[in-house]
This record gives sequence, structure tokens and C-alpha cells, in this order.
Amino acid sequence: MAETATLIIDGKEIILPVIEGSEGEKAIDIRGLRQNTGCITFDPGYGNTGACRSRITFMNGEQGVLRYRGIPIEQLAEHSTFVETAFLLITGKLPTREELTRTSVYLNDFSPIHENMRLFYRNYPPKAHPMGILSAMVNAMRSFYPELMELDEEMNRTYLQIISKIRTMAAMAYRISTGQRVVYPRPDLCYCANFLNMMFDSEVVPYRVDDDLVRALNVFWILHADHEQNCSTTAVRVVGSSKVNIYAAISTGISALWGPLHGGANQAVIQMLEQIQRDGMTIEQCVARAKDKADDFRLMGFGHRVYKTYDPRAKIMKKMCDIVLSKVKREDPLLDIARKLEEVALEDTYFKEKNLYPNVDFYSGIVLRALGIPTDMFTVMFAIGRLPGWIAQWKEDTSDPEMKISRPRQIYTGETLSDYIPIDQRSGETIC
Ligand code: CMC
Repeated sequence: MAETATLIIDGKEIILPVIEGSEGEKAIDIRGLRQNTGCITFDPGYGNTGACRSRITFMNGEQGVLRYRGIPIEQLAEHSTFVETAFLLITGKLPTREELTRTSVYLNDFSPIHENMRLFYRNYPPKAHPMGILSAMVNAMRSFYPELMELDEEMNRTYLQIISKIRTMAAMAYRISTGQRVVYPRPDLCYCANFLNMMFDSEVVPYRVDDDLVRALNVFWILHADHEQNCSTTAVRVVGSSKVNIYAAISTGISALWGPLHGGANQAVIQMLEQIQRDGMTIEQCVARAKDKADDFRLMGFGHRVYKTYDPRAKIMKKMCDIVLSKVKREDPLLDIARKLEEVALEDTYFKEKNLYPNVDFYSGIVLRALGIPTDMFTVMFAIGRLPGWIAQWKEDTSDPEMKISRPRQIYTGETLSDYIPIDQRSGETIC
């Protein structure tokens, strides 16, 4: 017999169905709750709310497990490429050799962007944050490419257009904001190598593509490619549920990712480590500030809504720091500070009791610095990586007959019925 849960409200017994996922996770189906009882559930931040059924990504926060379409993140980081992982997430299966080649050809073919889009960049103030620019550019794609709604047999061309062009747009934003000439994509280079070349090639010193650094970028983007119902993905699903076009939905995801509690944490970590270095703050002082409730300082790159153990992505990223730094023959003093900070925090009762461990962002900034990526481009790097996940989740959401427009309820705590008072009868201070 199917499992159920019993809820008693005002002496009335309600039987609620229990749904079980393929990994044994259980959810109480409360879809009939309001209709049958007049009550709603209250769950700010949705920490206990399953908003959808999904076949894309599995996480177990207690055991530090992350799998895309069933495949452990460790295996993908070791053997796959970002493009192959994107194919896996979006289509649900690993590509054949022929499918992968065709996908790569499309990604190269689609990489130039409309010349008029370049005018966008020119009109932005020089210090504009690239995440703001990227979000606007992706939204603008709907107007520049209205024809991109045809389907092909594996991956919708629209998805490939966005994956391909976002890389060009990101590199272009960097070049223009630093007053450098724009470097166009090269058809002979793979996705990651092309990005590095568009970022760093110069007439004076031509960029030499290094296989190890290309591999590092592949791993970086694989680790960021999806993370089930996180803040930005939820934003994409919620906005997408209104049936708005995919560009607008993805643009919302980019905005959500920008925040320092989410993707913006990779930039915030480096700024924190630099602050420790610059101000001569000791690690102990830093940890003490993070624990002080009167201080709004948090240990950036630590803690996670789902992981209550070491983030499996952070483990891989930590190893990558050594590999990439030894490749570029550089030492980064921030890595020493980060390692020490981790050591002290993991021994501290506050962090232990609250299960606060390094997350993916704690070491990712060090890897990006070693690749030569400037700090204000870090969150853009996260966004490029997360794009296949947003697309896969948007696709799943918009084709799921069970899904409806997102429209949560609330518990109203404001004034009860009050009469309108004409302005000359109101008392109180004047607000200018
Ligand atoms: N430093 C100090 N205290 C912390 C931290 C931290 N980094 N993270 C959580 N806490 C404390 C928090 O103050 C709270 O304490 P109390 O129970 O006494 O009020 C407790 O731990 C639980 O934290 P929470 O904020 O209620 O947990 P959450 O699930 O709402 O937030 C989080 C998760 C990631 C927003 C939070 O841990 C945080 O702000 N971390 C720093 C920012 C960061 O690294 N974000 C990147 C997340 S991973 C990349 C991504 O997927 O976006």
C-alpha cells in the first residue's frame, strides 16, 4: 500500500500522500491541503519545500554527494568536458562521438554575436559590473535572434546559441571594459580554449593555448554546471513558469547568481582573503568576527543550505589550486591564507556545531586568478558554467504537465480593515 502521512488540524484528520524519489527521498504531497483544511504551509526560504520532480541532478547534503543524470561529479570532473556535460544535462544522456562533434561544430558556428550588440557595451559606464551587462545582453538576445526557436534532433539550437554566445559576450565585456580590442572566436579551438583565447590574446603577445589550463577550465565549468533547485535555478523556473521566453528566464538566473550569498561568493571570498592580507588581520580574528552575531561579517565560501559536510565540488577545486598554480609557476599567498582559515574554522566549535564547511566558492577564486581571470569576472565564470543547468531545468519545467505558474501564498501580518482618512484630517509628522 502506498505510504501516507496523517495531519490533524482542529481535530480533523487529513490523509496526505507521500511521494518517493528514485534515491529514497520522501515528500508529503500537500497539494490538496488548502482546499481541504484552509491552511497553507509556512517555509521561508523553501528549505523544506520540494517545488518540482526532477530527473536532472541528485544531491545528498549529509553525505556530500552530487550527480548529474546519475553520474558522480568526481567522474565527470576526471573524464568529461564541459560541452559533453552540458549535452548530458540538457538531453539526459551522454552523446555519441558523432553527436558531440556536431554539437561542437554548432557551438563554433554560433559563436559570433550580432555587431549591433557591441553598441550595448559602448554605452555602459566603464566600471559597470560584467554580471549586470551579461544579464542585459542575454535578455537582449530575444530581440536580436527572434528566429531561434526551431528544434533539431538532439539539442535545441536555441540552447546551443545561448551556450555559445554567452562565452563570446563575456569575453567581449571584459575586453571592452579594459579598453582592449575585441578578439573574435576561432573555429579551430574548442569551447574552453576559445574562451581563454578571446580573453587573453593580444597582438603583442599572442595567447598560447595550454592543454592543462584548458582542462582546468573544463573542470571548473563542469563543477558549476548544475546544482538542482538553488536560488538562481529556482529564479529561472519561477520566471519561466509564466511562459516568458528562455532568454528572459536565463537573464533572471544571472541576476540571482550575482548576489554574494550565491554565485557572487567567489568574488567575495577573494576580497575577504585580500582584506585579511592587507589589514594584517589574524585568522583567529577573522573567525571570531564571523561568529559574532553583532558583526555582519560572514566567512565567505563557507556553509551551504544543502551540504552539511564538505562540498564535493570544493574537494576537487582545492586539488585544482595546486595543479593550476604549479602549471603557471606561481605561488598565491591567498591560498596559504585560505588553507589556514579552513584549518582553524573546521576545528572551531561554532563551525562544527553548525556543520559549516568550505563550499565550491572557497577555492574557486584561487583557480580563476591563476587562469588570469580578473576578480569582477569570477561570477560571470560561474554563470557560463551554470548555463547548461538553467537550460536543462527550464526545459524540464516548461515541458512538465504537472507544473503550474509559480504563485506562492503568504501569511498576511499587516493592518486589518482600516478606513481611508482624508489628508486634512490626518495627524502625525510630515514626511518629505
Ligand atoms: N559564516 C558564519 N556563520 C555562518 C555562515 C558563514 N559563512 N554560514 C552560515 N552561518 C551561520 C548562520 O549565522 C546561522 O547561525 P544561527 O543558526 O546561529 O543563526 C547558521 O550558520 C545557519 O546559517 P543560515 O544562514 O541560516 O543558512 P542558510 O542555509 O540560510 O544559508 C548560505 C546558506 C550559503 C547562504 C550561508 O551559509 C552563507 O551565507 N555562506 C556564505 C556565503 C557563501 O559562501 N555562499 C556560497 C554558497 S555555495 C555556492 C552556490 O551554490 O551559490
